[in-house]
Amino acid sequence: MTQVAFGVVGLGAIAAVHIDAILRVPQARLVAVASRDPVRGQAIASDCGCEWAGSYEELVLRDDIDVIDICTASGAHLEPALAAAAAGKHVLVEKPLEVTLERCDAMIEACERSGVHLGGVFQSRFYDGNILTHEAVASGRFGRLVHGAAYVDWWRSQEYYDQADWRGTWRLDGGGAVMNQAIHQVDLLQWMMGQVESIFAFADCLAHHGLEVEDTAVAVLRFANGALGVIEAMTSAYPGYAKRLEVHGDQGGAILEDDKIVSWQGLQIAKAEQEAMHRRFSTAAGGDASADPMAISHVGHERQIADFAEVVIHNRRPAVTGIDARKAVAIIEALYNSARTGLVCQVCK
Ligand SMILES: NC(=O)c1ccc[n+]([C@@H]2O[C@H](COP(=O)([O-])OP(=O)(O)OC[C@H]3O[C@@H](n4cnc5c(N)ncnc54)[C@H](O)[C@@H]3O)[C@@H](O)[C@H]2O)c1
Repeated sequence: MTQVAFGVVGLGAIAAVHIDAILRVPQARLVAVASRDPVRGQAIASDCGCEWAGSYEELVLRDDIDVIDICTASGAHLEPALAAAAAGKHVLVEKPLEVTLERCDAMIEACERSGVHLGGVFQSRFYDGNILTHEAVASGRFGRLVHGAAYVDWWRSQEYYDQADWRGTWRLDGGGAVMNQAIHQVDLLQWMMGQVESIFAFADCLAHHGLEVEDTAVAVLRFANGALGVIEAMTSAYPGYAKRLEVHGDQGGAILEDDKIVSWQGLQIAKAEQEAMHRRFSTAAGGDASADPMAISHVGHERQIADFAEVVIHNRRPAVTGIDARKAVAIIEALYNSARTGLVCQVCK
């Protein structure tokens, strides 16, 4: 097999990025799309030169599809994933994998039982700045890790929440600024710093109305390796600022803004390397979703979809497995438990 056949379910904003990526990746082919809205579904299928399926149940039964790519509302990822696994299709799921650990586990178990690959979309892991920082941490270049921070001080208008009835709800969004927006940075933080052991958080809705969930949250963390950390997540901070990730060790560290390295320092890092790093990222395009949800670069999705196509072609592990994608949900579930109870909460493994 040299080309993997994709079917996309859920045809909203992010599906357009997936479809664009599938069409650009040489190892991938778009076969069909499924949507609850027949008019929209047929129009998108006709624009993309692919077929339309009236439901995800119909999509997963097609024998010309290898991968079901799930882009529905967050709390509606599980049902199509279960149907896909039962039909023997590999499954790629947008973030968050699902809105609770219970639903993540049901998905992971179903895919394991059926012997199909499960991947969770975290496209930030495919940007060079994050990959280089992860490698530097893993090879010990920053020394003993002491602190990691994720700052997502973003803005989303009231119209953003009013546009789709699932947004801002516990059942279908799974949370607010942390679960929907900051989850990429939460994932990067745990990918680089390691397992989060415990967490204490405050969360509130301060700048929007009609939301069940938070638009502002702060949390302090302790990692299993002893390092400490912080998470700030907002959709209430007008006009919205570049997201930021900081990883600090006792011999060096990195600071990234919008996935680009803006500071790279260390006892083992020569001035020439620092300068080369600054030059490399001063022109790199990352995308800035601080105020516009769709102002993201498509490159990360393209790289992740290429990775998942290779997974199917070579029957190898995805760069981000379902188990990997579950980790951010575990941290966020503990963060919400802490905000609700006022207690320090342990993160489930
Ligand atoms: N990776 C990223 O950077 C990124 C960016 C945006 C959204 N997302 C994720 O993609 C998913 C979709 O987000 P979006 O912004 O495209 O939303 P959207 O509202 O634009 O589209 C959601 C789609 O899901 C369908 N849908 C809604 N509720 C459903 C339900 N109960 N059952 C079945 N289908 C349902 C809608 O009809 C629509 O086609 C979410 O999980 C979101 O977290 C990821």
